[in-house]
Amino acid sequence: MYSFSDKLKNLNGTATREILKLTARPDMISFAGGMPAAECLPCDTIAEIASEILSGKNAASVLQYGQTEGRPELNAELVGYLSSAGITADVENIQVVSGGQQGLDLLCKAFINKGDVILVENPTYLAFLQIAKTYEARAIGVDTTADGLDLNDLEIKLKKHRPKLLYVVPTFSNPTGKTYTRENRESIIALCKTYGTVIIEDDPYGRLRYGGELVPTMKQLDKSGETVVYVTSFSKTVAPGLRIALCCGAAEIIRKVSIGKQGVDVQNPALCQMVIAEYLKRGYFEKTLEKNIAVYRARRDAFLAALDKYMPKDVKYNRPEGGLFIWAELPEYMDSAEILPEALEKSVAYIQGNEFFADGSGRNTLRLNFSNSNEARIEAGVKILSELFATKIKERNNG
Ligand SMILES: Cc1ncc(COP(=O)(O)O)c(C=O)c1O
Repeated sequence: MYSFSDKLKNLNGTATREILKLTARPDMISFAGGMPAAECLPCDTIAEIASEILSGKNAASVLQYGQTEGRPELNAELVGYLSSAGITADVENIQVVSGGQQGLDLLCKAFINKGDVILVENPTYLAFLQIAKTYEARAIGVDTTADGLDLNDLEIKLKKHRPKLLYVVPTFSNPTGKTYTRENRESIIALCKTYGTVIIEDDPYGRLRYGGELVPTMKQLDKSGETVVYVTSFSKTVAPGLRIALCCGAAEIIRKVSIGKQGVDVQNPALCQMVIAEYLKRGYFEKTLEKNIAVYRARRDAFLAALDKYMPKDVKYNRPEGGLFIWAELPEYMDSAEILPEALEKSVAYIQGNEFFADGSGRNTLRLNFSNSNEARIEAGVKILSELFATKIKERNNG
């Protein structure tokens, strides 16, 4: 028996981790993970860039230690990358991090003491709930409306808890695929400014838009530049294995994030940083993204068409304009976690929705990923799931 820290002793692997292990089976049609399609990973381009870097005159420097903030070549590209997305930032506002995940962790490390409250959307990104637990924070869910966060509920909770942080995924959210309106974003920023709460805007999916109108990021709408810290990643748009992402915020916050990172891993691997820097510089980013968007749009459309065709009408689902997920609601009396083993037996995987709720509610919900299966498997998997849910509904109606 080991005596583990208070931080980790109550932290168990989520049910999702266990499901993701099963989805490695080749016969499994997985709507569970949030992975980019293997076909969308730019293997040849990355190989070409990496080999040029390693045989070039600066090869030794990418095998050497470097500064924690990020490789200067990458930081310069990131300033341009953010600016093309309407975000004004200097190098001092940017910290390169090892995946958005590390950015979220380091921001909690910078702000959170044991027992602090963090407000989150109900439901939210489940790994963020895990991070909050690691820092012994209390994550409290804020209700939602069709527009985004429920502003009344947000204000009540800001007043009551005076939280240091609000964490949101306002564009093509994981898990719901939903996007907050511009007005909702502006109101959230105004409220958080009033109560001195910093907003973490987590935006790994914003560039994966398949339709609808572009909505400005909260970072763009934060005129003071002090309220929103923006976290974005190249995991879903280039390759998650490179682990390149960034935090962009007030210089004072970014300095703390850098100090936090120094003690964790000193720096991101310089080779990966240089690969992304060159990938951006040579214009591969926009070109490849456009091709990948066409793949994901077709998969989303196939998924929605299959849902429309097969799913019983008592099951509700949304029609996201981007990202990688569709969110579904079964009738109130159903429990997606209870049904999941039967779905897995039929070789279809999804993620039970309650894992994404800070209070463990949402038992009748589920998250469906559409990026990682081709159209034929999507149709087959949705049909199997629909028949399973229809059987459950029928059993209930019959008695
Ligand atoms: C909302 C959200 N934030 C952050 C991440 C972390 O991604 P990465 O660490 O690969 O950048 C993910 C990954 O799925 C995500 O869905």
